[in-house]
Amino acid sequence: MSGKLGIVGASGFIGRELARQATAAGWRVCGFSRSARGAAEGVPSWRAWSEVPDLRGLDALVNLAGEPVNRRWTAERRVLFHDSRIGVTERIAAGLEILHSAERPRVLVNASAVGIYGNRGDEILEEGVTPGGGYLADLCRDWEKSADAVAGLGLRVMKWRIGVVLGREGEAFKQMMIPFRLGVGGRLGSGRQWMPWIHVEDLAASMLHGIGHANLAGPINGTAPEPERNADFTRKLAQALHRPAIFPAPPFALKLLLGEFAGVVLASQRAVPRALLESGFKFRYPTLETALVELVNP
Ligand SMILES: NC(=O)c1ccc[n+]([C@@H]2O[C@H](COP(=O)([O-])OP(=O)(O)OC[C@H]3O[C@@H](n4cnc5c(N)ncnc54)[C@H](OP(=O)(O)O)[C@@H]3O)[C@@H](O)[C@H]2O)c1
Repeated sequence: MSGKLGIVGASGFIGRELARQATAAGWRVCGFSRSARGAAEGVPSWRAWSEVPDLRGLDALVNLAGEPVNRRWTAERRVLFHDSRIGVTERIAAGLEILHSAERPRVLVNASAVGIYGNRGDEILEEGVTPGGGYLADLCRDWEKSADAVAGLGLRVMKWRIGVVLGREGEAFKQMMIPFRLGVGGRLGSGRQWMPWIHVEDLAASMLHGIGHANLAGPINGTAPEPERNADFTRKLAQALHRPAIFPAPPFALKLLLGEFAGVVLASQRAVPRALLESGFKFRYPTLETALVELVNP
């Protein structure tokens, strides 16, 4: 499948990689942004984001909007977390409602996150399991509900439950690297918690795969086939960087540093990408070792 692909959040970390791969695959990409942007930013054309966005002429739409949650969850930020996820998805529905059904894109990929599963120990989390509890799980559940409303408008909707996205330009990887570069890296808490990760190239490629596979719909785990326990992730990262990993960060220190976000890095989510694997998606970076070779050796 190809044609015109709209990307809300095309200026972001995942959006830029998706735009790059989609363009290379023959899609005409149109980004949506709250700021005026130009083709120099890797996306050939842009439309302004608004309360009722102009979604005419698109064959598929990907929504990657979201205020980052890796900062302190103040009352003001919680409003932004909600508006940039549920509010944006509702605005997409408003933009679609004013179009005749034949004018609407056929597919929506809407971001969600593995945070929907809550804290689940060693349980293997395929897409069919019930969501968990907690602030982030509730936020993701509401986010997915707002995407389900778009399915009611006749689009095939996929809710991409994204894990920790690894890429040299991504905040998560940059933040992980800091203590290791300083020689004070180590596991977080007990280190037994499962971390569902994915390389940004695989994440973008999997979304394009999903757009082209008419039998994929509903929740899709956007995670690599082999999640890692935090202690193993830490050890492998340290090995790749030739640095020690001997300074564990205790939970109280993480809470002081990160506030409630500490609960996210200490939560265990052994998510596996069953839907993607069953649909024949081939990961370029299926194991952490393969991803680290690309991430650490430019
Ligand atoms: N990166 C990860 O590890 C990870 C993991 C799980 C889930 N996710 C989810 O995946 C999505 C994309 O992540 P990312 O890392 O690419 O994020 P990012 O780099 O922070 O980009 C987010 C994009 O969202 C747009 N945006 C933010 N608030 C908006 C609003 N109120 N209205 C419209 N657009 C808004 C911004 O576009 P403009 O400023 O141009 O308008 C920005 O380009 C997010 O929803 C995030 O929660 C990411």
